[in-house]
Order: sequence, then structure tokens, then C-alpha cells
Amino acid sequence: MYPLSAIAATNIPMQKRVYIETYGCQMNEHDSERILRLLEGSDYLETKDAQEADFILINTCSVREKPEHKVYSALGRYRWLKEKRGVIIGVAGCVAQQEGERILSKFPLLDFVVGPQKIHHLNEILGEVEGGRRRVCEIGFEDNVSANTILPHSTQHRAFVTIMQGCDNFCSYCIVPYVRGRERSRPSHTIISEIEALVQKGTKEVILLGQNVNSYAKNDPHELTFLQLLAKINEIQGLERIRFTTSHPRDFTEEFIESFAGLRRLCEHIHLPFQAGSNTVLRRMKRGYTKEEYLAKVIKLREVVPNASITSDVMVGFPGEKERDFAQTLDLMRAVQFDGLYSFKYSPRKGTGAARWRDDIPAEIKQRRLEILQEFQRGITLRKNKALESDVLEVLVEGCSRNSPREMMGRTRCNRIVNFPGGDDLVGESVKVKIEVGLTNSLRGELCYKEEKIC
Ligand code: 5AD
Ligand code: SF4
Repeated sequence: MYPLSAIAATNIPMQKRVYIETYGCQMNEHDSERILRLLEGSDYLETKDAQEADFILINTCSVREKPEHKVYSALGRYRWLKEKRGVIIGVAGCVAQQEGERILSKFPLLDFVVGPQKIHHLNEILGEVEGGRRRVCEIGFEDNVSANTILPHSTQHRAFVTIMQGCDNFCSYCIVPYVRGRERSRPSHTIISEIEALVQKGTKEVILLGQNVNSYAKNDPHELTFLQLLAKINEIQGLERIRFTTSHPRDFTEEFIESFAGLRRLCEHIHLPFQAGSNTVLRRMKRGYTKEEYLAKVIKLREVVPNASITSDVMVGFPGEKERDFAQTLDLMRAVQFDGLYSFKYSPRKGTGAARWRDDIPAEIKQRRLEILQEFQRGITLRKNKALESDVLEVLVEGCSRNSPREMMGRTRCNRIVNFPGGDDLVGESVKVKIEVGLTNSLRGELCYKEEKIC
């Protein structure tokens, strides 16, 4: 940064600052990362303080009601910054896609909205807004999924790579097919060359992203299947770990499970949302599987990859969910023993099939079911984490721990967070850590072989 006096003397423009507020899913966090990289190319640097920003972007997901509401309260919160300093304010993500012009007319302070598939136009949009030409509404779908590829300027030891966008499943509660569009897969050669470029820059772990990765390119007989794509990525020299999310249980086939163990770089972690343990509820959710089929896949996966960690998503309070349905959700959790679980209260999303039904489960019952379920899962997660005490695990070091600058934080292959004393020379390295304490949300350990690099 230049000292202020030098700026005045030489007319060097002050660095512009962007503040991004992200709510919702992993896909959105990845989009925010890409937005930052895009903006670096047009003179914006990130600030973590909205008060000093020249541009505030609220990137919000509308999959659930809570993150959607947050966008409106954020707009209220930043109004005075617009009035006082004329900051540029934009909304990105699924809420932008869904609300479009409506949100622009409701909030006169808002300069633009940009849908998830139009992010790569952000610099042009900013140009228009900065030039004071107009308020912009850039939403809609792009056929070319690769238009969204943006490489980082610096090393990312752990990088997200979108392999497909949208979803064709139309689960009855879900807004995704409406706001992210129908399934479109990126050509495999662009995915592979993006990963090769990332690895050249120092990436050790990739997380392949899509709403339904197991159906990658399902309608294109000339394209690789997801399994073939994984096999190709598995051959990339220098890449240590591959993860993917999200898998739909219906498309998570036996053939896929059987091939899993053969791919050395593939991490032993599967995120397999089950949503509900009652077949009646699953049918009304239009999930396309029964609890028995779900359980059979879990058993098969544990046979092939005994140390696989399995995480999932679940909802309580879906319309018509009876106590006995909820009890079956707990039964399924008991049978599977998930390593981690994201749990939500159902909220109706405008335009979805389920929104036509009465949201008949009272808020306090949804809350009670959620608490019972979360308490139950906490016990399982803690027990599983404690069982790892004394084990030596491979940890890919990501950076400083949140608890202390003298501690490092990394992730095991099974996606558990590990904190351990160490220096930042370890960032980006795979090290062995002996687990000393298993906690509910993380593990604590001691570095074993500092010198040893694991590939
Ligand atoms: N209400 C509550 N939770 C929802 N999810 C998706 N739609 C809704 C909704 N209408 C949850 C599902 C999904 C996760 C990303 O969000 O569990 O897997
Ligand atoms: Fe939504 Fe179902 Fe598609 Fe997942 S699979 S994104 S829940 S429609």
C-alpha cells in the first residue's frame, strides 16, 4: 500500500476494497472465492471490514429460508453506508437469480443483482455501475459451463472445481433446479486441465463440486462417466487428494462403490444426504430411494472401504411428518452411525412441489425434533472421534488454527479437522499426526514425523 501523502502527490488511485458476505452452501462459498479472484483482476482487494469497503457484495443461497432472510437484513444494515459514502452494493447467488428485478425495485439502494451463472460478467457489471450508467440485473442460465472457470492467482492447497451445475432431480422441497437450472456437465478435458493447472500452482487436494456428481454427463454418450473422470484425475501427478460432493443416493451405484477402493487419491469420505428415514416421507420428497436401499448402499460402502467416513443431510418437519416418521429418521441414524450430519428444519420454497402442501408441522415441534436429532448425532460424532484417539492419521495442513497462532489446522482423509502444535512451514504439507483427544467438532493431536512427507 502507498502512504496517503504519496497518493496525493502522484495521483495514484487509492486501492478499491470489496467486502463479500456469504451465506448458505459450499457452492456459494466457492462462488465467493471465484468472485474475489475475478475482482483482483480489476483493482479490488478484499477487506474483512464492511465499514471500509467501496463495494459490498452479498452472496446468498435460497435453498433454505434462513440464508434468504439474511440478505434482506444485510441490505438494511448497509443502507447508511450507501447514503453516507455511496458504496456500491450488489446481490449475487440463488436469491439474485430467483428475485431478479423484484429485489432491485424493492431496494432502491441496490446497484445490481447477478445470478450464479453470470458471475464471470461481474467486472463489466461493475464498470456500468461505477460509470453511473444504470442499475443492472444480470440473471439467467449459461450453456457454457466452462465460462465460469477462473484460476487463482496464488497457491490454494485445497481447491474447489465445479464439474457440473444445476440439477434435474426436482426433489419436492428443493429450489435448486429452479435457480441453478438443469444439469449441465463441463467437458472432462477442461476439468482435467484446470486441475493440472491448479496442481502446477501447488494444489494438493481438489474437491469436485456438483449438485449430483454421480450423474456427471449422464446424457452424453461421448463423454466420460463420473467414475472414468475420477480415474483420470487420479492419474494427475502431484495431486494428493480427491474429494467430491454431493452424491445422490439413487445414483451412488454398487459399481461405483466397488471401484472406489481402487482409486488411491480418492479420500475415504462420502457425503450422502438421506433427508429422512421414513419411506412415506422419502416418497413425498421424491427422492427415488427407500431407507432399505439407502442402508444397503452404506453397508456395501463399509464393506469395500471399511474406514470410510459417511456424512449426510437430513430434514425435520417436512409436511405431514408424523412422530413415527421422525422416529424412523432416528432409527436410520442409529443404524448408519454417521460421522457427521447437517440437519435442517424444513421451510417451504416458493415454486417447489412441496410448497403446495400446508407447512403443517408447528415451529416448536420442528425445533424439538431438530434438537433431539442433533443431540443424538453429537453423541455418535463424539464417540467416533474418541475412537480415533492414539491413531496416527495423515493430515494435510491448511493453515493456522483458529484457536492459536502456534497451532496448525489440517484435515484427515476422512475430512476431520485436526489441530496440533506446529509452525506455518507445514502449510500445504501432508504430515502424520497422533490423535490425542477426540472432540465433537474436531480432533487434537501431536505431530509425529515432521520430516516425513506422505504422497
Ligand atoms: N427446507 C429445509 N432444508 C432444505 N434443504 C433443501 N431444501 C430445503 C428446504 N426447503 C436442505 C437439504 C439439502 C441441503 C443442502 O439443504 O437437506 O440436502
Ligand atoms: Fe435439490 Fe434434490 Fe437436486 Fe439435491 S438432488 S439439488 S435436493 S433437487
